[in-house]
Amino acid sequence: MNRITIVGTGYVGLTTGSCLASLGHQVICVDNDEVKIRMLQSCLIPIFEEGLELLVERGISSGKLTFSTDLISSVEQAEFIFLCLPTPPNNDGTADLTVLYDVLDRLKGKFASGSIVINKSTVPVHSAGVVAQILAQEVAVVSNPEFLREGSAVHDFLNPDRILIGCDDLSAGRRVADLYSSFNCPILFTDPLSAESVKYLANAFLAMKISFVNQSALFCHSVGSNVLEVMRGLSFDPRIGSMFLNPGPGWGGSCFPKDTRALTGMALASGEPMSLVTETIAANERHIQRSAQLIIDAAQNSENSDVRVAVLGLSFKADTDDTRESPALRILQIIQDVFNDVVAYDPHAKVQNRVVNHRVNTMDEALHGADVLAILTEWDEFRGLDPVHAQSLMRGNVIVDLRYLLNKELFCNKGFSVLAFGN
Ligand code: UGA
Repeated sequence: MNRITIVGTGYVGLTTGSCLASLGHQVICVDNDEVKIRMLQSCLIPIFEEGLELLVERGISSGKLTFSTDLISSVEQAEFIFLCLPTPPNNDGTADLTVLYDVLDRLKGKFASGSIVINKSTVPVHSAGVVAQILAQEVAVVSNPEFLREGSAVHDFLNPDRILIGCDDLSAGRRVADLYSSFNCPILFTDPLSAESVKYLANAFLAMKISFVNQSALFCHSVGSNVLEVMRGLSFDPRIGSMFLNPGPGWGGSCFPKDTRALTGMALASGEPMSLVTETIAANERHIQRSAQLIIDAAQNSENSDVRVAVLGLSFKADTDDTRESPALRILQIIQDVFNDVVAYDPHAKVQNRVVNHRVNTMDEALHGADVLAILTEWDEFRGLDPVHAQSLMRGNVIVDLRYLLNKELFCNKGFSVLAFGN
């Protein structure tokens, strides 16, 4: 059992804290947001994330997990201090490290002797060195990037494919590795610069993979092949793999857009621009616009002048309420600028009312009287849509299925026209 303090209770911090508590460590999660900390103390989870509530509940009742707004006293007794702080993008795409620097300034001189500061947030390459410099070698600094996905954060944390430890001081690195000793996965020790680079390049590679799939969907469309069949054909090559081959309306979220922009900025500044990543960002932007245009064209072809478009999905992917840089939300906004009657439904997405002109509470309400239905997020609920039921609610018969969820044949047999790139 170790005494651990987690600074920052966002997706990564809260998941890291509650999972480490579930492994038996004594964990304090600290945040300067008093409302959030009060909620967490009452076991109210501010984000929709499978399994998190249960872990927090167990952590609190076992006494292993506590929440506090008092940064200094939370850190003074800790052996390990995880920094899980937000690094939002500046206007030029570079990461804004104000929060990180502010926290470090306040913590200088407050650490227990022998404690270790661990950076989990995605921070620009060289940050571990900068942190060590700010702390004037007072503690060891270890870079330990996190690879969890929103929507499966708890599962991913507890079942990692690798643990990456970037350190100059190997004994500190080994102590951090020991925190994860119950996991059955490779633990990779490297230098801090390489660990920080892995995080950015992994996200950029994944974003590039999805953009490749989305561009392949356009290619398949133009030559008359089926992108789903094509991706299945690719997936059996272990060098390509079967994951992250799903075409969609474009990638988004709180990580890929921010991290790809930061990476291109760092690459440019280093004198070695990463043109593939620059093009991936541009291709994704074009894909979002093309996806919106597909829906607009379908709606403009409708016989009815008072066309109604129903949108299913607002979050950037299924199983999360997060709408940051969500392609679904971007597409909705483009469509709302063209048509007066656009109605949207999402089971969990957190979004300000003013952004969505007309949000309804059920899928049926959205479908009611719709001429065109657009599916933008892959929630399981949408997969279960029945063609006969859809027919009984909709006025029109066009579905733009940008997540490739529906059984096209079943819907076509009922007189629907199901549109998607390359399918
Ligand atoms: C991503 C990475 O997958 C995590 O490994 C990483 O830890 C995290 O960023 C981070 O840096 O914190 P996340 O943003 O939660 O995780 O979501 P993903 O599941 O990667 O999805 C990102 C976007 O790609 C979504 O818009 C999703 O719909 C899209 N996507 C994903 C596709 O369009 N097709 C796919 O096959 C997979």
